Amino acid sequence: MNKSYLNTLLTGAFLCLFTVISAKAQDVVIPVETKDNALVLQVTPDKLLNMVYFGSKLTDKNEYGSIAKMYNFSGTIGSYNNAYTSSGTRNLLEPAIAVTHADGNKSLDLKYVNHTVTKINDDVSLLSIKLKDSVYDFEVTLNYQTYYNEDVTEQWSVITHHEKKDVVLNKYASANLCIKAGGYWLKHYHGDWAQEMQPEEEALNHGIKTIDSKLGTRADLFEPPVFMVSLNKPAGEDEGEVMYGNLEWSGNFRIDFEVDPANNLRLIAGINNFAADYVLKPGVEFTTPKFVYTLSNKGKGEASRNLQSWARNYKIVDGNGPRLTLLNNWESTYFDFNEPKLAGLLKDTKKLGVDMFLLDDGWFGNKYPRNGDHAGLGDWQVNKAKLPNDIAYLVKEAKANDVKFGIWIEPEMVNPKSELYEKHPDWVIKQPQRPELYMRNQLVLDLTNPKVQDFVFGVVDDLFTKNPELAYIKWDCNSIIFNAYSAYEKNQSNFYTDYVFALYKVLDRVRAKYPKVPLMLCSGGGGRVDYGVLKYFTEYWPSDDTEPVERIFIQWENSYFYPALTSSNHVTDWGKQPIKFRVDVAMMGKLGFDIVIGKLKPDELAFCQNAVATYKQFSDEIWHGDQYRLQNPRENDVASIMYVNPAKTSAIMFNYLVSTRYHAGSSAIKLKGLNPDKMYTISELNVFPGRRSTIAEANYSGKFLMTVGVNPDVRDGRASVLIAVKETK
Ligand code: GLA
Repeated sequence: MNKSYLNTLLTGAFLCLFTVISAKAQDVVIPVETKDNALVLQVTPDKLLNMVYFGSKLTDKNEYGSIAKMYNFSGTIGSYNNAYTSSGTRNLLEPAIAVTHADGNKSLDLKYVNHTVTKINDDVSLLSIKLKDSVYDFEVTLNYQTYYNEDVTEQWSVITHHEKKDVVLNKYASANLCIKAGGYWLKHYHGDWAQEMQPEEEALNHGIKTIDSKLGTRADLFEPPVFMVSLNKPAGEDEGEVMYGNLEWSGNFRIDFEVDPANNLRLIAGINNFAADYVLKPGVEFTTPKFVYTLSNKGKGEASRNLQSWARNYKIVDGNGPRLTLLNNWESTYFDFNEPKLAGLLKDTKKLGVDMFLLDDGWFGNKYPRNGDHAGLGDWQVNKAKLPNDIAYLVKEAKANDVKFGIWIEPEMVNPKSELYEKHPDWVIKQPQRPELYMRNQLVLDLTNPKVQDFVFGVVDDLFTKNPELAYIKWDCNSIIFNAYSAYEKNQSNFYTDYVFALYKVLDRVRAKYPKVPLMLCSGGGGRVDYGVLKYFTEYWPSDDTEPVERIFIQWENSYFYPALTSSNHVTDWGKQPIKFRVDVAMMGKLGFDIVIGKLKPDELAFCQNAVATYKQFSDEIWHGDQYRLQNPRENDVASIMYVNPAKTSAIMFNYLVSTRYHAGSSAIKLKGLNPDKMYTISELNVFPGRRSTIAEANYSGKFLMTVGVNPDVRDGRASVLIAVKETK
């Protein structure tokens, strides 16, 4: 079979499944192409599968076969660019997979067998490559699912064996990339409660840098599984080569970045193997989570837009649909509410003009009423003292006020002071012989137990069955896993991994029955957002920190990876900023309120009502438009970001003062993403009642706005300014 024919088959528009016979393995070059990029795999004469390229696409596909001989991938101890590096034989660098066979032997040497390409639709293709050990009946299939127009690839592995007894997987990564560049700069994040998404960027040197989590649930409280790597030099917003990655996994993850002796970047991403040797029965397939990545040679902005379009089109629930604006009662009442108080809040919801009222924590528990965070969690029966007429009354009242009703749950958790704990102590994750350890006075339920899965599904199902008009759920997760031990699992070391599989199993059941209902993924902050779990949710809660200046920074960093419509931004009373600033900051994502509406002065209320109406006018741009970061808050007095609709006829620009220095303020800020040939009318939005805008409404060409820019006149006294950019009629 000639090479060019083979390449055509792999990348061309053929619709059926095709299997390549591996007779002449050395001829097999496997380019995985997307709109601008190619990842190239090549089989060596001794049938090892290597990764030889990741970068801009070549015009002539036949030339992919010439790449390997130009690059140096090896040194004294062999080659370092295996596409899924096994351990215990030839490789002595960090492996992607390590196993203990049924007979106790720890060697593995995976060789190429064959591969198939399936064209799923015009945009999506799946390449599957089968690898097999020559001594043991053990195999791995590597999968590369490409999204051509978005320049995005999802990669995962399926591991199986037919040995006589169980095999232990000591490491089982999703992906093992080998990237060649003249230098690598990693941007990753750290944080803690209310200080999520603190960035750090560093040059990667020889050796291994690892980002990981061992927290069990809410993996990214400390370190999220998102990152970017610039190649050759640190990328800018609109220039430079940069790769973004996210392990689609909501538990312990591990991503190793190894600059090897031949100066390649070996990137290995997967479930964290810490305390997680996985016992795999013969004939069972172990499917790793997906590792999603994109590469751009036009900087961080394009990489974001790639990932965000992919997320909206293929990953998050209802990514191209609408979102509900809301009033939440967490910070306005905490646990202290009753029917009359909530009836008043439902009226306020209508008055404000938002779509929905969201009842937060505190509505359940009778023997141990949920009047604080120390009791009642797990007892999902309506508290009779606070709500004698049940949830049904609130749903009815909401309807009477022409607003929707949503509710908070935290179904994976339990307070020791609860009937659930008393009845089912074996459903709780804890060490049988050690004292219990709590985070926020609570423990995590053992989801690996199918009865617990039924219980958690039942919490959601019961609410919807009894209240079919329930419009929204905020699903919280406020504890990590201490004392990891399951009374159910036979193999304790399967526990961390099985917990997350079990969570996804429950969420699969929820989504099978309630495919579209909006669900917010909350976690006492941005402790649980990744593309594994966003598959089930419409939005996430980035942080409990809603102080608006802090929020600009947190929302900014999340904006690199997640679309704006997934970022639940609530206006609260945190900090000292005026209501206009707080609302303007919340409007750059999915707008919500968590304040006492009755305490707003008349002009403040009028401002909020107008802002909600303005938000609705521009929600299509914010939710589904292309996002352009204009000025980074870490480098400028003024942070600036804009969203443009796909037709380039309408855009909204958000500008925030983030410096308190005396002369801090804006100058002209160049817009992006407009049509240079169109004329646009510029005007200011969200002007506070009684104030006059200093931005005169005027018309400019797209060329002018993108070359010279517009000065939003941000300064002390005008700390946040929103600008509408509309095609001139
Ligand atoms: C977490 C959430 C808050 C609120 C409380 C309720 O902290 O982040 O928004 O829902 O739980 O207990």
